[in-house]
Amino acid sequence: MTQTSYIPPRPVPLPTTLSLLRVMWEGDGNLLSLLPRDAYTTDIGWLGWSRRSILIVNDPAQVRHILADPDGIFPKNDLMTGAVEPLIGESIFVSSGETWRRQRRMVAPAFSNLQLSRAFAAMDAAIDAREDALDRSAVEGEAVSVDLTMSWLTADVICRTVFSAPLAPGVAQDVYEDFKIFERSAAHVELKRLILAPAFEEIPQHERVLTACARIRQHLGTMVDPHLKDDADFDDIASAVVAARDPQTGERFTREELIDQLGVFFLAGHETSASALTWAFYIAATQPDILGRIRGEITEICGDGPVAFDHMPKLIYLRNFFKEVLRLYPPITFIPRVALKDCEIGGRRVKRGAMIMVTPWTLQRHRKLWKNAETFDPDRWMPERADDIPKDAYIPFGLGPRICVGAAFASVEAALILARLLRRYDFTVTGTAKIRPVARLTTRPQDPIHATLTRRA
Ligand code: HEM
Repeated sequence: MTQTSYIPPRPVPLPTTLSLLRVMWEGDGNLLSLLPRDAYTTDIGWLGWSRRSILIVNDPAQVRHILADPDGIFPKNDLMTGAVEPLIGESIFVSSGETWRRQRRMVAPAFSNLQLSRAFAAMDAAIDAREDALDRSAVEGEAVSVDLTMSWLTADVICRTVFSAPLAPGVAQDVYEDFKIFERSAAHVELKRLILAPAFEEIPQHERVLTACARIRQHLGTMVDPHLKDDADFDDIASAVVAARDPQTGERFTREELIDQLGVFFLAGHETSASALTWAFYIAATQPDILGRIRGEITEICGDGPVAFDHMPKLIYLRNFFKEVLRLYPPITFIPRVALKDCEIGGRRVKRGAMIMVTPWTLQRHRKLWKNAETFDPDRWMPERADDIPKDAYIPFGLGPRICVGAAFASVEAALILARLLRRYDFTVTGTAKIRPVARLTTRPQDPIHATLTRRA
């Protein structure tokens, strides 16, 4: 199979009623199963299966308007904020209005290009550590879980770049397990609410979710505290956020606020990157043509030496490959907002409390917007094919003022991890189970993908 005809795993879209029946039958909180066939072709339309009205918006101009939200009437959706609140409080990811503006002003400088070039060494160190473990698995011939490997690696990258501290093995395992509990249960609450509940209804989280969140926050507190000491001498993302002052009041973040903000980096910056990298490794491992081109480019640009920060902009095919992964597997599957008052969107009358679903998953696979929408084709991102890229229809990092603050960080991190690990190992996917994407907090394979590794000469 050539790369231009490769269609990677996707759910089979069904008519609306069958989609609803399917998701109830499966009962695993997979929001992708809910998307009916029409969701991939419509510009704007009501999803007809919930008590609360849900408008799916695939019209790029309307997407930009909603996410820019000039009138302040489309804040983050109450359902999503309720799900993540026990973990990250009222932090930058969920806040709105003046609270958000203040937080964004204080947090954004921590992700400047200068900070990114400093973070690069810490990313490299995390990969060194993971390679030691992967080398052992390669020697022993044991299959590794690609999902787990990526979650650990990206969690370690966040700890080292944000806190200058590696994840000790016990803590890594605990955080990973707690995130899994959080991810599964929070999504489950979401799905029930999505179908059955009216707008703005409070639904309590399961006790075990709250306990998992409390444990994660405790770990974060342990990592924040050294940065708060008078003689603290760090040069990392946490120190930049600790030092940040509100330009108007001169105030700094309190300890609890720091845990909220730094927890966002952990939540938004670890599972998202792990999700994209899992799909990237799966595709590279199963598509020899694509893998050959990635490796050829790495050799041409980096030779046999280290992969350096300066190489990043030159790894064009690798970066296009990752862009294409983010198109077909956007880690944040849905970007939900809520209408705070009656309004109109693209000629539809929208009532207060309606959920507005901006959906990277459907927008980036939209049959009318993209040529060969389901085909995995990294070359569509070459400048000579710029006309093939519909404006404002590629939004894996969001759009407008709330665009992901860690987008450049995530792109460099992914390019480095892919370049180093694909150069070092052959990955052979094991097992015969069908790979099926599901949407929980991020877009994931339903069952873990396992692979055996072989060290390359
Ligand atoms: C492939 C990796 C990533 C993807 C796909 C991604 C995606 C997104 C998206 C779609 C949003 C906007 C959500 C909305 O408008 O509702 C967002 C916001 C955010 N992301 Fe990322 N993200 C990634 C990595 C990261 C990393 C590495 C960090 C930090 C270390 C990060 C930190 C944030 C923060 C703080 C926000 C909130 C920004 C705001 O509301 O002002 N993300 N991300």
